[in-house]
Amino acid sequence: MAIVGVVGGQWGDEGKGKVIDLLAQRAELVIRSHGGNNAGHTVVNEQGKFALHLVPAGIFNAATTCIIGPGVVLDPAILLEEMDGLNRRGVDTSGLMISSRAHMVMPYHLLLDRLQEEGRGAGRIGTTGRGIGPAYADKTSRDGLRVGELLDLESFKVRLEQALAQKNRLLEKVYGAEPFQLEPMLADFAGYAARLRPFIKETEPVVFDAVRRGKNVLLEGAHGTLLDTDHGTYPYVTSSSPTVAGLCLGAGIGPTRVDTAIGVFKAYSTRVGGGPMSTELNDSVGEHLRERGAEFGTTTGRPRRCGWFDGVAARHSVMVNGFNSLAVTKLDVLDDVPELKICVAYRLNGEEIDFVPADARQIDRCEPVYETLPGWNCSLSSARDLGDLPPAAIRYLDRLNELLEVEIDVVGVGAARDAVICRRDLYR
Ligand code: GDP
Ligand code: IMO
Ligand code: MG
Repeated sequence: MAIVGVVGGQWGDEGKGKVIDLLAQRAELVIRSHGGNNAGHTVVNEQGKFALHLVPAGIFNAATTCIIGPGVVLDPAILLEEMDGLNRRGVDTSGLMISSRAHMVMPYHLLLDRLQEEGRGAGRIGTTGRGIGPAYADKTSRDGLRVGELLDLESFKVRLEQALAQKNRLLEKVYGAEPFQLEPMLADFAGYAARLRPFIKETEPVVFDAVRRGKNVLLEGAHGTLLDTDHGTYPYVTSSSPTVAGLCLGAGIGPTRVDTAIGVFKAYSTRVGGGPMSTELNDSVGEHLRERGAEFGTTTGRPRRCGWFDGVAARHSVMVNGFNSLAVTKLDVLDDVPELKICVAYRLNGEEIDFVPADARQIDRCEPVYETLPGWNCSLSSARDLGDLPPAAIRYLDRLNELLEVEIDVVGVGAARDAVICRRDLYR
């Protein structure tokens, strides 16, 4: 038995969906722990290719219970759409559980996300526009509405009325926007409540029971550590904690229970939205990585910024997470690149540093110090064992291992579930 957490080590889109799909086959529970439908997790398995936003990536296994945990912010309309889409493709979602503690993304959060971004002007974050920041802000300021409140529509009406009074004041007086009307919103939420009612549960006892019975539990992280509100490139971050600690918090599992904390890293770097990215490549190599790696956002379709592997940022991520296992994905995307670079330090104000400064403006001024390694110039896509890899690919992985000081247990060589090298059984 083991409790395994899967966390993005960079700026999201590292291939967490694939790693979770792989491990979920052996898990009794998969718990999506935080974030909302700003996430887009791609799964390619024998049932097809799927882009998941809120539904945990364990949903393809009949024997696995999937939980949307208390730390998630959930847009009920989007969740229902996603469930319907999965059902149409033959994926059963009837066993899904939604924590009654999860907060809801409300229509005014979507509008506020847009208005706040417009107000930031040149300093805009480049959010996904899914209302995530405003929903988490309401949660921490204790103005949020939680999924469990849908079970009692009379009291929900009172709470929504209060929320709208506050939000409409803000929208009209500060932003000069149209106010929201209570009745139509109430009718929409009554509709969501009718459909979601069977799925809304007190999930803590379910999780605790699986832990106590020694079952395999998988904690599904979203986004990436460098988008963490505390540890990321603030303010160019998301509004949750995409770290191992955040997984525990969002799932309702004590940190002492986690056996394996897997950091998922792409073999190079990508980022969507604004914010510093020291190794970004605005040249033909960057373009090659984007095309070859199909680096376009799963949620918004935006082209992802691409660059070399940033070893300094990755070490920061290892430090704040305490990973004891790594997955390196998309190694195959580097197949045709003749020379590979890895950033091993930054140069800031003429000095070499080996840490990520707290101030995003300072990170922006950091020049990467690169090491160059030879490429392998052949296809890795059929490799299923380390022994199948050419020496140059082994050398590249060894260098990442040296820099990060954590074992690489999983190597991705393609998008499909089986396009992977697994060096260790993570569920002992
Ligand atoms: P997530 O948000 O971390 O789950 O990642 P995304 O699904 O947003 O983006 C990762 C993309 O890379 C998806 O299109 C995956 O299908 C794909 N992918 C994952 N692992 C590999 C791999 O090892 N090789 C290749 N070529 N593609 C991969
Ligand atoms: P997955 O789980 C990549 C980025 C957005 C933006 C910033 C803030 O698929 O890896 P938000 O809408 O969260 O307020 O936007 O965070 N972002 C992601 N980038 N993958 C994600 O999720 C992301 N979730 C948020 O692009 O820069
Ligand atoms: Mg993604």
